[in-house]
Amino acid sequence: MKLKLIHHLSLFSLPWIQKEMEIFILLSTLMLLTNLSLADTNEVLGLQCSGSDNATLENQYQVNLNNLLDSLAANGPIHNGFYTATEGKGTYRIFGITQCRGDVSPTDCAACIRNSTMVRGCSTSKNVTMWLTWCVLRYSNMSFFGVWDQSAMALTNDTNFENSNVVSQGLNFMNELAATAPQSPLMFQTAVLDVGQSGKRYGMAQCSRDISKSDCGRCFVYLLATFRTTIGNKRGWEIHGASCSMWYHDYQFYFNFSIPANEGAMKISHERVAIRLMIPVLLFLLSSL
Ligand SMILES: *[C@@H]1O[C@H](CO)[C@@H](O)[C@H](O)[C@H]1NC(C)=O
Ligand SMILES: *[C@@H]1O[C@H](CO)[C@@H](O)[C@H](O)[C@H]1NC(C)=O
Ligand SMILES: *[C@@H]1O[C@H](CO)[C@@H](O)[C@H](O)[C@H]1NC(C)=O
Ligand SMILES: *[C@@H]1O[C@H](CO)[C@@H](O)[C@H](O)[C@H]1NC(C)=O
Ligand SMILES: *[C@@H]1O[C@H](CO)[C@@H](O)[C@H](O)[C@H]1NC(C)=O
Ligand SMILES: *[C@@H]1O[C@H](CO)[C@@H](O)[C@H](O)[C@H]1NC(C)=O
Repeated sequence: MKLKLIHHLSLFSLPWIQKEMEIFILLSTLMLLTNLSLADTNEVLGLQCSGSDNATLENQYQVNLNNLLDSLAANGPIHNGFYTATEGKGTYRIFGITQCRGDVSPTDCAACIRNSTMVRGCSTSKNVTMWLTWCVLRYSNMSFFGVWDQSAMALTNDTNFENSNVVSQGLNFMNELAATAPQSPLMFQTAVLDVGQSGKRYGMAQCSRDISKSDCGRCFVYLLATFRTTIGNKRGWEIHGASCSMWYHDYQFYFNFSIPANEGAMKISHERVAIRLMIPVLLFLLSSL
């Protein structure tokens, strides 16, 4: 595994948003893991780190961070894939959240969280978000529980375009999912769209379980509006946010999670799921507020 700085960043113009927000590209703080093979395994999709803020120089912070990560890795998988924890006191206090994708088994969830705690791309930072295929890890020296964070990145396959007659159907489909997913158990939902001769489209949406249902809904709407140009004509895309994420593909990329899990069944579905590599377009938006 190797970490690379992103070379190709695109800034999309969002005139209607610029009044309320300032948009920054965090060139020096964005990293992405590139792996050129098709993989049916868990991958690091993106990292978002605060600037170098001496986290590595502070021993007590490191001790607390390690305790926090241990706690998240131990507890996330046994709490339906979501857990919040805090460690330490005063200056060295640290807050963390971990969440697995709703379709991922407890075993895969545990493996993903454990692996995320070993990714060391942002070791000098105190405020870190790490997106992996199966789970998200976030921690900071400031409390962020329950707060909708608008940071997000989009991954798209820029050579695989959606059939023009399917584009608006696909977007409507994802907008409907955005409306229903917040009401679903665990604020997680998948859906299938039948587009006749063009096949099927598979959608998935999930919110971080610390935010409210209403913020969850707003978070999805915000992602779809913000990345409208980026995803509009793509046949495969994912938007990974700190507080909510959405996925859209022309193949079933998620596990058959409704089937009662036994090892045999899970193994078969793992082999069938190809997590295709996409050309990453990273765009982080920061609220200036
Ligand atoms: C978090 O860390 C940053 C960078 O070291 C520091 O500026 C900030 O005051 C810290 N916040 C808290 C609540 O400790
Ligand atoms: C980082 O540590 C250096 C040396 O101890 C100090 O001068 C600097 O102010 C620290 N920076 C932050 C953001 O805490
Ligand atoms: C965890 O990391 C190890 C070592 O890089 C790798 O072999 C394994 O497939 C990873 N598992 C998951 C679920 O990420
Ligand atoms: C962490 O950083 C993200 C993006 O840089 C920012 O949106 C968020 O407010 C920060 N959160 C905390 C708790 O420091
Ligand atoms: C899920 O189940 C359906 C119907 O049983 C099957 O066609 C599909 O291949 C399965 N998908 C995965 C990813 O296991
Ligand atoms: C993008 O999609 C096309 C068509 O499905 C596929 O052949 C190609 O490998 C994908 N690109 C990447 C970088 O995965």
